[in-house]
Amino acid sequence: MSKLGFELVCVDCRTAYPGLEPRYRCDCGGTLDVVHDLKAVAAAVDRDTFDRRRGGSAALDRSGVWRFRELILPLEDDRAVTRGEGNTQLYDTPAVAEYAGMKRLLLKHEGENPTGSFKDRGMTAGTTAARLLNMNRVACASTGNTSASMASYASIAGMRAFVFIPEGNIALGKLSQALAYGARTLQLAGDFDAAMRIVEQVCGREDIYLLNSVNPFRIEGQKAIGFELLQDLEWHVPDWIVLPGGNLGNNSAIAKGLMELHELGWIDRLPRLAVIQADGANPLYTAFRTGRPVEPVIADTIATAIRIGDPVSWKKSLRGIAAMNGVVEQVSDQEILDAKAQVDGAGIGAEPASCATVAGLRKLVANGTIDPESMVCGILTGHLLKDPDVVVGYHTGGLDGIDAHHANAPISVPDDLDAILAELRRI
Ligand code: F0G
Repeated sequence: MSKLGFELVCVDCRTAYPGLEPRYRCDCGGTLDVVHDLKAVAAAVDRDTFDRRRGGSAALDRSGVWRFRELILPLEDDRAVTRGEGNTQLYDTPAVAEYAGMKRLLLKHEGENPTGSFKDRGMTAGTTAARLLNMNRVACASTGNTSASMASYASIAGMRAFVFIPEGNIALGKLSQALAYGARTLQLAGDFDAAMRIVEQVCGREDIYLLNSVNPFRIEGQKAIGFELLQDLEWHVPDWIVLPGGNLGNNSAIAKGLMELHELGWIDRLPRLAVIQADGANPLYTAFRTGRPVEPVIADTIATAIRIGDPVSWKKSLRGIAAMNGVVEQVSDQEILDAKAQVDGAGIGAEPASCATVAGLRKLVANGTIDPESMVCGILTGHLLKDPDVVVGYHTGGLDGIDAHHANAPISVPDDLDAILAELRRI
């Protein structure tokens, strides 16, 4: 173990590298884990330390990522690139619970992060690693949220940001953010998977730090979703955590973090994990069902955030699913948008990919995998306003192949009080 208290270890061949270097893969091609010296962590902090920090006023303690820094990326106080990320609500949602067939359902809304998605948790760690490595140019491929987040954090850190996005296949809210925060935005004539392949090559050639979730420090930051969820629950372990899967960084991260808490003895068991994919972008689902390695597919779904056919973190993902006795489910675009109508209509709201969580949960309850009496926490990954086109398209009946069962179309009225009063009594 290096004196930093962590090192990078290959998921495939277990080769170890010193903790802090601009490296995303092992020489054998395998992805890398940050492996912490958990004995040293246990000697330095405990659960109470994290709880005390939660009420504190220091910048690092206020962040729902850096509050857990010993388990993420130990650092000096003034080095973090932070926007006070995390601290997201855990909603108790009777209406959505009923729709899913559950007695009770808790939804942690990661869309309440500074740039509107869970990516900020990984990005604060990734850009901080870039700063510690003296890298001043960063890049990512993205279906939109990673690029929005990276653009913001890079700007705060004074770094140049380059984003690679699939042309025509990213939601408007996300594209707006990348442009607004000043990232140089390259629209690729290809899908996300093509953009991902290119950006890894670009960062291999140029002195640019890659901030996709193949970057092991991104995964470390994203672990904090699980840490904060446990803290929200006063360290009571739920029966299930349910979340969407695309490039598969997030479920890998949550599993890794919870496995560390378990190893530390800070939780007495692991929850089960359910990863939900769109049926048009389902390589993990197929691998899980067949017991074979992930084989890439050409992806297509209205939930553009998870329109990914060749996920980078699939080995880490399957490892976490195995450790947590997890399952993988798939849902159609219709099921995603029906569930979204429930999440939105409950006053909470989330982007389409997030609502795969609720659609998948409903399916897993219906097929008997999840007991309706069990304690389930779903993760909503992105904000409602990320994808306004889908919302307006749905409510105005303008989405091809989708039945808008819960449409709430705007109503045109004349500029006339009596006509408006008559209309109000009718609707
Ligand atoms: N939900 C949302 C809203 C996302 O943006 C993503 C991924 C996921 C779920 C899936 O998470 O990739 O860790 O399995 N978005 C990426 C991006 C790929 O570029 O913003 P994952």
